[in-house]
Amino acid sequence: MATGILKGKRGIISGALNEQSIAWKVAEEAHAEGATFVLTNAPVAMRMGEINGLAEATGASIIPADATKDEDLDALFTGAAEKLGGPVDFVLHSIGMSPNVRKGRSYDDLNYEWYKQTLDVSAMSLHRMLQAAHKRNALNEGASVVALSYIAAQRVFPDYGDMADAKALLESIARSWGYRLGKENKVRVNTVSQSPTITTAGAGIKGFDGFFGFAQEMSPLGNAPAIDCARFCIALFSDLTRFVTMQNLYHDGGFSSTGVTPEVMAKFVQEG
Ligand SMILES: NC(=O)c1ccc[n+]([C@@H]2O[C@H](COP(=O)([O-])OP(=O)(O)OC[C@H]3O[C@@H](n4cnc5c(N)ncnc54)[C@H](O)[C@@H]3O)[C@@H](O)[C@H]2O)c1
Repeated sequence: MATGILKGKRGIISGALNEQSIAWKVAEEAHAEGATFVLTNAPVAMRMGEINGLAEATGASIIPADATKDEDLDALFTGAAEKLGGPVDFVLHSIGMSPNVRKGRSYDDLNYEWYKQTLDVSAMSLHRMLQAAHKRNALNEGASVVALSYIAAQRVFPDYGDMADAKALLESIARSWGYRLGKENKVRVNTVSQSPTITTAGAGIKGFDGFFGFAQEMSPLGNAPAIDCARFCIALFSDLTRFVTMQNLYHDGGFSSTGVTPEVMAKFVQEG
């Protein structure tokens, strides 16, 4: 299927933790499409070691960076330019974590220190990344930035907790930077709002099976798998989408536009 659509492009891919990670699939697809890139993740995630195998398979270098630390992000963009031989053409932000969700704190009983961490790790980190990149002129003209989001930014999914607020902030940050970077250097910034996907982050949400099953039956195409999300990201990194920016793009099999389906209705219809 690969056509070399990213041949000659350089990038940074965050968030590949294990084979299930959406970012892992993006890295494999980007490699197959001819890109060279740096992989990054939080230093604690490095301890699991799985990322080394991905780096070997894709010829990527690894630069650890905690996405909530400006000094780490400065080092990431400086190091990536050195390793790749110039500014980058694409950046994937695939980072999310809520201590409140992880520890089962409901929306009416949030720990506010954890709430700040949720917003910092899952949303402000996109701002920090782009500010670090901008200050270092680390993005090539026409570069493409993609961050992964979820429809809880627009609609209430009660068990998604404070991550919903983080995703709403993430999407707003993408628009705000998209305007500035587009004017300045034709850089595009978009969010991709993905179907529920079985990954470490996904499975951390209470009642994830229910989320997944409901979305499956509410989507004419069914839930979008991680590999297809990766391919959509590749399309956004490519030159075929040079005028797509400041958008939240649903990659969800049609879920976001569907009111009801016979499969879901059937669960409520009384026989006789
Ligand atoms: N899985 C789903 O159902 C789903 C649906 C829509 C959107 N998303 C989003 O996709 C993105 C990727 O998640 P995933 O499902 O592939 O799960 P994942 O757990 O594989 O990826 C999350 C990544 O965030 C990284 N991370 C956490 N804290 C960090 C920090 N301080 N600095 C740097 N990195 C840090 C983790 O190490 C991990 O690699 C997230 O933004 C998530 O919210 C996931």
